Amino acid sequence: MIKPTNNRKKIKTTGLLNKSIDYSLQENSGEFYISEATASYGNNDKKSFTVYYDNPEHSVRLLKGDCIKILNQARENSVDMIFADPPYFLSNGGITCHAGKMVSVNKGKWDKSKGVIENHKFILEWLKACQRVLKPNGTIWVSGTTHIIYSIGFAMQELGYKILNDIVWYKRNAPPNLSCRYFTHSTEIVLWAAKNKDSKHYFNYPLMREMNQGKQMRNVWEISAPQSEEKKFGKHPTQKPVDLLTRLMLASTKEGDLVLDPFCGSSTTGVATILLNRKYVGIDMEDGYLKLSVKRLKEALAKKTTKLFKERTVTKSQTIHTDVHQIA
Ligand SMILES: C[S@@+](CC[C@H](N)C(=O)[O-])C[C@H]1O[C@@H](n2cnc3c(N)ncnc32)[C@H](O)[C@@H]1O
Repeated sequence: MIKPTNNRKKIKTTGLLNKSIDYSLQENSGEFYISEATASYGNNDKKSFTVYYDNPEHSVRLLKGDCIKILNQARENSVDMIFADPPYFLSNGGITCHAGKMVSVNKGKWDKSKGVIENHKFILEWLKACQRVLKPNGTIWVSGTTHIIYSIGFAMQELGYKILNDIVWYKRNAPPNLSCRYFTHSTEIVLWAAKNKDSKHYFNYPLMREMNQGKQMRNVWEISAPQSEEKKFGKHPTQKPVDLLTRLMLASTKEGDLVLDPFCGSSTTGVATILLNRKYVGIDMEDGYLKLSVKRLKEALAKKTTKLFKERTVTKSQTIHTDVHQIA
C-alpha cells in the first residue's frame, strides 16, 4: 500500500458532496498539487476546478475541470509519468461500425474538430502544460490515430520533448470498415516521450524482456479492446483497455510513482495505478465520466484490499502451519 504523505496543509474547497470540505494538500512533498495560493502560469488566474474524489490513503484523486487550467495551477516538476488519451476530433458526422451496426460517430461535444489550426493550438497548449508538471526525468505517453497523431508528434518536437518510441497498438478484434473504400483501421499509435533532451528516462527493460519470453520487446503490441468486465459500470465511448495501461506503466514507472491522466474519462489509468501500487491524479470535465471513474476506482481499491487481506491470511496460516510442523 502507498503510504500517505504527512506534512499537509488544510485549505477549503468544494467537492462532490456539494458543500465546503477540508481538503489536505501536500506541502513540501515534491508532489503534484494545486491550490488557490499556488502561482498561476499562463493566462489562468482563477482557480477553476473541484476535487471530485479523494482517497489520500491510497493516493487516488480526481479533479473536475479543464486540464489546461488545472495543470497551469499545479506544481511544476512533480509528476513521474503522464498518460494522455486526448480528444481525437473524430465526431464530425462520419460513420462507423458498432456491434455490427452502422452508427454515426458522435462521442460528445468534446470530440468535435475546430479545424486543423485550432486543434493544433489546443494540442500545443495541453502538451506544454503537461511538460511543465513533468519531473525532469519524467515521461509522457500519448495515444492517437491518424487524425491527431502527426499534430501531436509535431507539437512535441516544437516544445522540445524527446520522442522515445512510437508504439503501434494492434487490435485484432477491430470492427470492419463499412464503406469498403479503405483498409480496416486496426491500430492506434502511442507516442512515448521524455520531458526534454536532457532527461534520463526510466525504462524497465528487464521486465519487458521477461514479459516477452526473454526476447527484446518490440514496438508492436497486440492488445484487445476492453473486455465487457471493464465496462460493467457503464461505457466510455473511447475507453482504453487496462492491459495497455498496465504494460506502459510497468515499462516506465516504479512502485509509488505519481501518474497523471489529464483526459481521464472512465479512469482506466487510475485502475492500472491501483493494481500496480502507483499514485494517481485524473482530470476530466464531464460529470458522467467522473462518476463512472469513481465506481471503477472504488471497485479496484476494494478488490485490492480483499486480495491483500487474503494474502495476509494465507501467509499467517502458512506461518502457523510451519510452527506446528516445527513443534511436531
Ligand atoms: C479519449 S477520452 C479518454 C478515455 C479514457 N482514456 C478511458 O479509458 O476512459 C477523452 C476525455 O477527455 C475529456 N476532456 C476533453 N477535453 C478536456 C479538457 N480540456 N480537460 C479535461 N478533460 C477533457 C473528455 O470528457 C473525455 O472523457
